[in-house]
Amino acid sequence: TPRLFSGMQPSADSLHFGNWAGALLQWKDMQDTHDATYCVVDLHAITVPQDPKALTHQTRRTAAQYIAAGIDPEKSTLFVQSHVPAHTQLAWVLNTITAFGEAGRMTQFKDKSQKEGTDHASVGLFTYPILQAADILLYDADVVPVGEDQRQHIELTRDLAGRFNQRFGDTLVQPEAKILKETAKIYDLQHPGSKMSKSGESPQGIVWLLDDEKTLTKKIKSAVTDSEPEVRFDPEAKPGVSNLLTMFSITSGMTIAQAEAHFAGSGYGDLKTQVAEAVVAAFAPIKARTEELLSDPAELDRLLALGASRANEVATATLQRVYDAVGFLAPT
Ligand code: TYM
Repeated sequence: TPRLFSGMQPSADSLHFGNWAGALLQWKDMQDTHDATYCVVDLHAITVPQDPKALTHQTRRTAAQYIAAGIDPEKSTLFVQSHVPAHTQLAWVLNTITAFGEAGRMTQFKDKSQKEGTDHASVGLFTYPILQAADILLYDADVVPVGEDQRQHIELTRDLAGRFNQRFGDTLVQPEAKILKETAKIYDLQHPGSKMSKSGESPQGIVWLLDDEKTLTKKIKSAVTDSEPEVRFDPEAKPGVSNLLTMFSITSGMTIAQAEAHFAGSGYGDLKTQVAEAVVAAFAPIKARTEELLSDPAELDRLLALGASRANEVATATLQRVYDAVGFLAPT
C-alpha cells in the first residue's frame, strides 16, 4: 500500500472551509487506499507568536476536528508533531543541505513575513518548509494530499530528498503532492481575490468549520459577488460567484457543470441561500461530533498517545537510516 502524510497547523480554534475542502476531504477518502499518517503540526504553529494556553487548547481542537470530519484514529495514524522528537532531529540534518537562497524563494515565507518585515520574522518561520520536509520524509510518504498553497513546499521536499540520496546514497522517498483541481483553492468571501486563510483580514470572509448555523448563513449571504445577474462559473471575471459555486459543488456533491445548470435562471439571492443550506448541512454533524469529542479530553489524549507511539516507531527508524548515511558515530 502507498504511504501518505499530511498535516495542519493548530493555529485557530477552528479549521476553515479551505482546510476542509482542500485537505480533509481527500484525507478521509485516502485512508482506505493508503497507509495514512495525519499530524497536528504544533511545531509549525509557533513560528509566529502563539498564546501557550490557546495553543494547548487548539491542538486538541484540531485533532478533534480531524476525527469529526472522518479520520479514523484506528485506521490511520493521528498524532501531534511535538510528541515525536525525530521531526526536529531530521529537520536539523535537512537544514544543512538546504541552500539559503533556496529557502528564501519560498513564497509563503515572503507572504507571512510581510507584516513584520523579514528583519523581524523568526528564523523558525524561514526554515519552516524544511521542518515540513522532515515531517513528510520521516514516513517515507509517496503522496501528500494538500491545497494549492503547499505545492512549492512539496517541491522543496522532493528536491531535498533527491539531494540527500545523491550525496549519501539512497535513503529517502521522494513524495508527490496530491492537489485536487476543483477544491485546491477556496477564496475569502469578502475578498474573493485572496485565498481563505486563518489569518485573513476580514472575519466575515472566513467560513469556519465550527461556526453555528446562523453565523454560517449570515457570512454566506453577505459574500461579495458582482453586478452581473448571471450565475456562471468564470473565476477570472466572476471570482465571488465562482467561489460560491465551488463551495456548493463540494457540499452538494454536484459537479460544477451540474451546479451551473441547477442555478440557470436563478439570481444571486437564491444561489447564496442554497450554498448556505448545503454548507450548514455538511458542517453541522462535524461540529456536533467535535463538541462531543472535546467533552472527553482524556479519551482524545489517549488516542493521540496511541498515534504518537505508532508514529515514533516509523520516524525513529527513518531517522536512524539518515544518521547512519550521514556518518554519525552510533552511540553504544
Ligand atoms: P495549513 O495549516 O495552512 O493548512 C492545512 C491544509 O489546508 C489547505 N488549505 C487550503 N486549501 C484550499 N483552499 C484554501 N483556502 C486553503 N487554505 C489552506 C492547505 O493547503 C493544507 O493542505 N505547512 C502546512 C502544514 C504542514 C504540512 C506538513 C502539510 C506541516 N507539515 C506536511 C503537509 C505535509 C500548512 O501550513 O497548512
